[in-house]
Parts: sequence; C-alpha cells; structure tokens
Amino acid sequence: MHRIAVFASGAGSNFEAITTACQRGEINAEVVLMVCDKPQAAVIDKAIRLGVDYFAFSAKDYYSKAEYEQIIVELLDKKGVELVCLAGYMRIVGDTLLNAYGGKIINIHPSLLPSFAGARAVEQALEYGVKVFGITIHWVDHTLDGGKIIAQRAFEYYGNSADKVHRIGQQIEHKMYVETIKNILK
Ligand code: GAR
Repeated sequence: MHRIAVFASGAGSNFEAITTACQRGEINAEVVLMVCDKPQAAVIDKAIRLGVDYFAFSAKDYYSKAEYEQIIVELLDKKGVELVCLAGYMRIVGDTLLNAYGGKIINIHPSLLPSFAGARAVEQALEYGVKVFGITIHWVDHTLDGGKIIAQRAFEYYGNSADKVHRIGQQIEHKMYVETIKNILK
C-alpha cells in the first residue's frame, strides 16, 4: 500500500475525494498526512472526520519558508510519504521541500496550462473571454505552475459566472485527481 500526503488551504473537496477513494480501496494508497497553511480552513474538519493526521501551520509564526518546510519534510520522511498531492495549496513550494521531494510532488490547477498560471486562473480566463476551460495536473518544479504536464481535461462554457466554472471544474477535478494518482502509483 502506497503512502501519500495531500496539501490544501481551503475547502478540501479534492482532499476528500482522494482520501475517500483510498479508503474505498479505489487507489492502492493511504493518505497518511494532510498539510494545511490555514489553521481555520474547512479542510481540517474533513481531516478529523476522515481520520487523517494533519499538520496545520501559519507561515507568519515561522522565521522563513525554509523553517516551516523543514518541519514538513521531517513529517513526510517520518510518515514514509511517496507522493505529495497539492490540492488547492495556495503557497509556492520552496527549495527545502523541492530539494527533498522534487519529482514526487504533483499539483492540480483550474486552467489549461500554460494559460492562466497563478491565482485567479478562472477569473482571468473569463476576463479574456475564453470559451474552452479546463483542468491540469502537473509535476511541481521551481516555476509557477510550469512543471511538466501529466493530465488535462477541457470543457466548453459560454457564460460569465466564475462560480459556475469552478463548480463544473471541481466535478472534473475530483475524478481526474483520483485517476491520475492511480496511474502514477501503479
Ligand atoms: C481547486 O479547484 C484547485 O484547482 C485550486 O484550488 C481549488 C481547491 O479546492 N487550485 C489552485 O487554484 C492552484 N493554483 P478544494 O480545497 O475544494 O480542493
């Protein structure tokens, strides 16, 4: 059984989709750690409900990114994590984490990369008048949302509601993240 960690900052719907797929046996893995940089985020309640150990921190309580990432690396090492899945983790991964876990970190992003990297991807796509939206899962490297692409799904949308695009996108994300993790770990 593989051992994975999920990093999140918000609602944690992808964390829940991945964890429940593991618990159902759909992915041959256990989510052994959830890392969250927002101590009040809803994803923490989900981790408690699903029985997943978590580490919640506030960046402002640490002297540097290297300092809190060193703690995260030690936790990942201790738990024997083989794959780190960023799922709405709204922080740039730094050298400390990349040096230790580079090549083992993936991210999900709500656009067809390389278009619309960074935060506000859906909103920027709408401002641009985009009609084909999508989701990308990619390896994480030193660039912002620029690592090698693993999987993409596209969908058409002709309206102007960011909420609607997020809703459609998230339904795709949950299935796509589970399938991609399965493929990577097989
Ligand atoms: C997801 O839709 C993910 O694509 C996005 O954050 C959301 C987290 O939702 N990620 C980014 O925007 C990364 N740049 P969740 O907390 O419900 O999984």
